[in-house]
Amino acid sequence: MRLSFLLLATVAAMPMLAKDILVNTPNTTLLLKAEEGKPLHVSYYGERISSVSQVYDAFSLWEEAYPAFGAGCQEITALDVKHADGNMSTELVYRSDAQQAEANATVYTVTLKDKIYDFEVDVCYRAYNNCDVIETWTVIRNNEKKPIVLQKYASGFMPFRQGDAWVTHQHGSWGAESQITEEPLKAGVFEVHDMNGAKNAVINRPNIMVSLDGKPRENEGRVVGAVLCWSGNFRMTIDTEGKRVHRLVAGINEAHSQYELKKGETFTTPELAFAYSNEGMGGVSRSYHRWARLNNKVHNGQQLRKILLNSWEGVYLNVSQDGMEKMMDGVKSLGGELFVMDDGWFGDKYQRSVDDCALGDWVTDTRKLPKGVPALEKAAASRGLKWGIWIEPEMTNTKSELYEKHPDWIVCHPARTPITGRGGTQLILDMSNPKVQDFVFGVVDNIMKETPNTYYIKWDANFEIHNFGSHYLSADNQSHLYVDYHLGLKKTLERIRAKYPDLVIQCCASGGGRVNYGLMPYFEEFWVSDNTDAQQRLFIQWGTSMFFPSCAMAQHVSASPNHQTGRVIPLKFRFDVAMTGRLGMEMKPSDLNEKETEFARKAVQTYKDIRPIIQQGNLYRILSPYDKTGFCSEMFITDDKSEAVFFAYKFEQYVDLFRPRFHFAGLDPNATYELTELNRQGGADHWEGKRITGTFLMKQGIEIALNGQFASKVIKLKKI
Ligand code: GLA
Repeated sequence: MRLSFLLLATVAAMPMLAKDILVNTPNTTLLLKAEEGKPLHVSYYGERISSVSQVYDAFSLWEEAYPAFGAGCQEITALDVKHADGNMSTELVYRSDAQQAEANATVYTVTLKDKIYDFEVDVCYRAYNNCDVIETWTVIRNNEKKPIVLQKYASGFMPFRQGDAWVTHQHGSWGAESQITEEPLKAGVFEVHDMNGAKNAVINRPNIMVSLDGKPRENEGRVVGAVLCWSGNFRMTIDTEGKRVHRLVAGINEAHSQYELKKGETFTTPELAFAYSNEGMGGVSRSYHRWARLNNKVHNGQQLRKILLNSWEGVYLNVSQDGMEKMMDGVKSLGGELFVMDDGWFGDKYQRSVDDCALGDWVTDTRKLPKGVPALEKAAASRGLKWGIWIEPEMTNTKSELYEKHPDWIVCHPARTPITGRGGTQLILDMSNPKVQDFVFGVVDNIMKETPNTYYIKWDANFEIHNFGSHYLSADNQSHLYVDYHLGLKKTLERIRAKYPDLVIQCCASGGGRVNYGLMPYFEEFWVSDNTDAQQRLFIQWGTSMFFPSCAMAQHVSASPNHQTGRVIPLKFRFDVAMTGRLGMEMKPSDLNEKETEFARKAVQTYKDIRPIIQQGNLYRILSPYDKTGFCSEMFITDDKSEAVFFAYKFEQYVDLFRPRFHFAGLDPNATYELTELNRQGGADHWEGKRITGTFLMKQGIEIALNGQFASKVIKLKKI
């Protein structure tokens, strides 16, 4: 049934003289021009058009859709190939095109062929019918007589007409991921790239927005988003040449990654997902959120996420049967639904009491847990809690039985002594090696065999590719490592998903080090950051929400003073900040006093009530913490605009601090909404229980009493 639904008609068109290909989503159009014997051109991307002539009549852009190096020699190219005979030039012209309908999309494939070589490229576009996102990627085929070398193999290209265009991108570090940077696109080259090798989202992320109408605004202006669905090294470049056009090329970073294709082999580049909106950056964010939730770009994106307690900041590596059970009692009494045991539970010859050993030795440390993990799984079940566990399956330590047995499984050239990471001993396993892939699959599979009711796995990755080289890859193919690592990881995750489609898996990499759409189709959620300080989280979460939906954002209330910053923040503020994502806790509940416990219990219940609005609603960011006013606000609203939840925060305190009036967004202007405060502490604000129209709330806004530093309010809006 499902299969027949997916295999809808394939329409293959015959070659023709010239043809317009309209790649449409509900509200956007990408216009391509295909002409016999000529390169494929792109002439428009923007609001949906009803007739092609209006684009051409108004004079459009005219750029090659997938520029290759060597014939025409553009300033910036997407493809650079060394052919079998050593020729470095490529000249791609249109050969044929086809359309294929899928359940939620149409795929347009335009086949280009080199004018003289048996070398072909399918330039593909997937236009969704349930969101305004168009993915592009290429399938590169070597039909030449001998191997060829791909020297650059980007996923796609997009031109923008010059104007007052600005780029917004995400830059960060451990504990301060996804900080938003905005800058005008000036003459020259803008580039964001990452060479970490394994966790390519700590410093830079493969996601940008280009605002075409001046300084980026949240809810106004034309904006194009570009998101690369790749977990490895990437490069996104915008070349601004002359006075006419900005050219964007994005894909796998070709640095140290020349890729050989043997005769008959193909290489499929990762998807590059574009979104266009004339509702500002918020419009583009909402499109990506929808795309992710509805099309499995985040695994099981439409499923509501459970409230959990994770043991890390509560006990760190000091896990014990008794300690875990106490935390289970704590989270249960607060109304939580899931308990996760973090690092520290494993190791036989080497005991994981310090973070310098035992990765790879995935057996219970019976000195800490004499009754084994199954007893903990049962202990959780007996309390009505789901059970989860931490692993770091791609890693090992020099102090581990795994490394002693398989020293050739690590990423490192055989001739070199490896440079180590965390604990002075950590190493990364070589995912290009099929034996390592089997081992990593086995880590999950064995857990599921020993404790079949495991509901959740936290999959961590705390080291990068530090030692370039592979024992497994041949001398000729060492340059495949950066790419084959991630293809191997993806293959392993696909295998895990085929067997365990419902297992909830968190993507963690020293916090948000792997927050990218290359991996999220295999993970329900990601750990936003190891930094749980509520003030810094406002910035990190704001930046992360630019591209990722709240259902995927793991946000935990932790202890005060905070373990990363030492800051003291009231529990209410900590909850109000964590509640804009998938709520959880990262502390010993027994450390809360009676009053706090009472507040936490109510907050957890409140979150359950509003969970569908937060996790499946549409996000409108309103006051940015980056604007340095000391305030931040955002809201979530259901598709039918009948219910919304609004969050306002104040995280600075000065005498005579400017106090904004709070505006709402995304409401039905003609509807009337009743306002109720949630997580309330203290007296009622003047709007409590009042009924106000959508127009008034959006245009005039309301005053909100936020007194002192770390004041916050959560307001529920219900259409009446
Ligand atoms: C990483 C993760 C943390 C925690 C530790 C355990 O730093 O980001 O959340 O799991 O590893 O060692």
